[in-house]
Amino acid sequence: MKILVTGAAGFIGFSTSMALLKRGDEVIGLDNVNDYYDVRLKNARLSQLQEFENFKFEKADISNFEHLENVFQIQGPFPKVIHLAANAGVRYSQQFPLQVINSNVVGHANILQLCRRNDNFEHLVFASSSSVYSQNDKLPFSVDNRVDRPVSIYAATKAADELISHVYADNFDLPQSALRYFTVYGPWGRPDMSYYHFTNAMMNSTPIRLFNFGNMRRDFTYIDDIVSGTVAALDNPPAHNLQSTPIRAFNLGAGNTEALEKMVSLLEQNLGVKAERIYEAGPRGEMPETFADIELTRNILGYSPSVSLEAGIEKFVDWYQEYHR
Ligand SMILES: NC(=O)c1ccc[n+]([C@@H]2O[C@H](COP(=O)([O-])OP(=O)(O)OC[C@H]3O[C@@H](n4cnc5c(N)ncnc54)[C@H](O)[C@@H]3O)[C@@H](O)[C@H]2O)c1
Repeated sequence: MKILVTGAAGFIGFSTSMALLKRGDEVIGLDNVNDYYDVRLKNARLSQLQEFENFKFEKADISNFEHLENVFQIQGPFPKVIHLAANAGVRYSQQFPLQVINSNVVGHANILQLCRRNDNFEHLVFASSSSVYSQNDKLPFSVDNRVDRPVSIYAATKAADELISHVYADNFDLPQSALRYFTVYGPWGRPDMSYYHFTNAMMNSTPIRLFNFGNMRRDFTYIDDIVSGTVAALDNPPAHNLQSTPIRAFNLGAGNTEALEKMVSLLEQNLGVKAERIYEAGPRGEMPETFADIELTRNILGYSPSVSLEAGIEKFVDWYQEYHR
């Protein structure tokens, strides 16, 4: 099966592509390899993928329709697409809203439009986010909760993507699955995310800043669990019939909520370094707590996350020490 994976140089795109390549799928990876974080990490991920004969890479910007159309013409048609390319930072989205709207919303619409042109299109799986729940205080977050009260531009772009996708599912029968990822961490992770950023700070003996005065909780989800959920979603498109619109949303979390302080303590134990903590209110736009209700994902996709925060942080630190040696 030929699959287009956008954001293939990114954390989740790389890890998902790797799993697809290992099971024998043909993967066309697409990414603009931007410098939002260290490009050397993106290139190191890509060179691992390029070791597979069934992998091809296209450098292109999804917000540029002509570039994207070119890739679809040269490498397509793609029966299945996993669309993960986006500007993924909440704080970055508050600083550079237009850039983020361009990649996350215009880029998403461009992907939809090109998938729609293929009469034999089978399934678009795309990255949404736990951020869409923003102001919900009903925990755990169920896919039935409201998602129309975003607190960051990033959250608004992901909710907008789900809405635009719904129109393409309804009007053009385009089968889709929206994956609401919850704080993904692990080897080959993102240097802008707290666990990685804190590790860098602790190794450089600089203080770490804990927002909301340390009272943050997250549903931390290990990358291997995210990859198995993403691949299970790809393999299970929604039913294509007159009774239902062929689009579903799934929470991909561990189904557990943990204090940010616990993650920091685990980093301290594994790195053998004590963190110097600064407690502060932090910027607006951050949610105090996330917690995924994963019952539906379990029932429909057979999703069963299995890596504890203890085991996952240990694996991350092992990888970090090897990569940054
Ligand atoms: N990591 C998480 O905890 C998390 C949580 C919720 C949702 N998500 C979503 O999952 C997806 C993947 O996230 P990730 O953690 O792997 O992030 P990432 O930043 O590592 O990967 C995203 C990739 O997309 C590429 N990209 C960005 N804008 C592009 C554009 N205009 N054209 C082409 N490529 C572009 C980047 O270069 C990057 O390699 C994103 O859509 C993100 O919003 C991630």
